[in-house]
Amino acid sequence: MGSHPCSYIREDLISLCCRRTMQPRCGVSVCHVLVLVLCLSAAEDFDWTKNNHGSFYYGTFPTGFSWGAGGSAYQTEGAWDKDGKGLSIWDVFSHKKGKIQLNDTGDSSCESYYKIKDDISLMKEIRLNHHRFSISWPRIIPTGVKSDHVNGKGIQYYDELIDHLLENHITPIVTLYHWDLPQVLQEKYGGWQNISMVNHFNDFANLCFEKFGDRVKHWITFNNPWSVAVEGYETGEHAPGLKLRGTGAYRAAHHIIKAHAKVWHAYDTQWRGKQKGLVGISLSGDWGEPVDISNQKDIEAAERYVQFYLGWFATPVFHGDYPQVMKDFVGRKSVQQGLGTSRLPAFSSQEKSYIKGTCDFLGIGHFTTRYITHRNDPTGRSSNSYFTDRDLAELVDPRWPDPGSEWLYSVPWGFRRLLNFVKTQYGNPMIYVTENGVSEKMMCTELCDEWRIQYYKDYINEMLKAIRDGVNVKGYTAWSLLDKFEWDEGYSERFGLYYVDFRNKNKPRYPKASVQFYKRIISSNGFPNQREVENWRRKAVEMCSSSNQLLAAARRKSKEHAEMPKVWPVHDEV
Ligand code: NOJ
Repeated sequence: MGSHPCSYIREDLISLCCRRTMQPRCGVSVCHVLVLVLCLSAAEDFDWTKNNHGSFYYGTFPTGFSWGAGGSAYQTEGAWDKDGKGLSIWDVFSHKKGKIQLNDTGDSSCESYYKIKDDISLMKEIRLNHHRFSISWPRIIPTGVKSDHVNGKGIQYYDELIDHLLENHITPIVTLYHWDLPQVLQEKYGGWQNISMVNHFNDFANLCFEKFGDRVKHWITFNNPWSVAVEGYETGEHAPGLKLRGTGAYRAAHHIIKAHAKVWHAYDTQWRGKQKGLVGISLSGDWGEPVDISNQKDIEAAERYVQFYLGWFATPVFHGDYPQVMKDFVGRKSVQQGLGTSRLPAFSSQEKSYIKGTCDFLGIGHFTTRYITHRNDPTGRSSNSYFTDRDLAELVDPRWPDPGSEWLYSVPWGFRRLLNFVKTQYGNPMIYVTENGVSEKMMCTELCDEWRIQYYKDYINEMLKAIRDGVNVKGYTAWSLLDKFEWDEGYSERFGLYYVDFRNKNKPRYPKASVQFYKRIISSNGFPNQREVENWRRKAVEMCSSSNQLLAAARRKSKEHAEMPKVWPVHDEV
């Protein structure tokens, strides 16, 4: 990045009093507008005071760069109670009234369980190199306890999926835990609050290595453990819906990290020799940028934001322990609250060395960025929480585009910053981007998704710049292949490259314009030149109008069908 003179810019930032998955958009839900002063600095090396956005970079990715798209079991499979599958915490949670938008569930979702071939032909259409999916633990071990019962039909489903992918030259990247814990383990032991999950998860993982490891070479132990811990056990917005503020998330994370390390070691000692695969973890992280880069307090607050998010999990797996700043802040607040020990659990020295280095590659899920400023949060017992432990406030720039989910602002430069942060903090590990993409709201059944084209174009370009900065990114996964069940948001937020008509029981898929655009990026392995890239965009948008027509016609047909009287009126017979 080149340097440029430090310039002062006046910015109106909106304070985010709400968090991710929060309620109404902040502009509406009363957050105050702050007028702040920003300074872009001229420092040469990566540091908190340097943020040079630069212009669009035309160029290609390294040879062999892997392009993919993803989804996860509960979000896409459907068939929630079919062929011997056990219940997961998401099956139970989504069936409770008031937990999910419109009380939707993942019961049938995209019915991907029945559409292996159809979905693989969609992947072939884009020429994907890899597909990321997750294995539903209760589908193959219904109670979660391996010694109880292994469900052959579940194994058969994943066998078929993997075989068909490989027959079509698509590499499977497989996540073991994308949030669907077997319900029995929640009821009996309290789920991730309980250390016994470590052994049960290890048994499940080893079963997967045994059954599928001859063909699967990229394993992800956990997807986004931050969400599991914070949204599952702190705020309760996600399954299992517990609100154990100030302690639940830390405890869940502690057990998840131990479970990850155990599985990595099991693979390393028992399977790696013959299977020759890799085991990583997929962490999600929003970028946090200091509001005022000339203010040391803001710089420290931004670093805390990232350390409490990505660093919470990445620092243990790369360096053996939690980030120092988490230990300091949670420890200090715990003392102020009159507690004898920190709410953040501690690893023993044996555990530290066991956990350190348990990551063959790092999966990164990234969607958005926040501006961060320092704020002293209260420390009373009643204000115990992961969020207040950080002493910071999150802000957004109202000019950032936000086409879909309330929390998702498009800030491409944050992606490059995050990737460079990973490089410098964790010794330049091998990275697969495991999730990146943007949603749209339910009311827009718009297949001509120009904003998604723009998002992908800019975020992928920032990733290319990061690779030029020396970040070791090996692959990229667009999130997601299909519209799908979006957790507590139900079907109201659509991330797919393909539109799914959930109202039709066959769940037909229709390509959005972004399919064509992403396909071009893949076939050129990057961005050749401005004229071509502009042409791709134009053609993609032109082509999508025919898909729009198809969808509209199908809709009309099903509406007519629905409106057709089931019994002819009596007077017709007369
Ligand atoms: C991260 C989760 O892993 C994924 O399941 C979800 O669809 C995306 N965030 C978008 O919210």
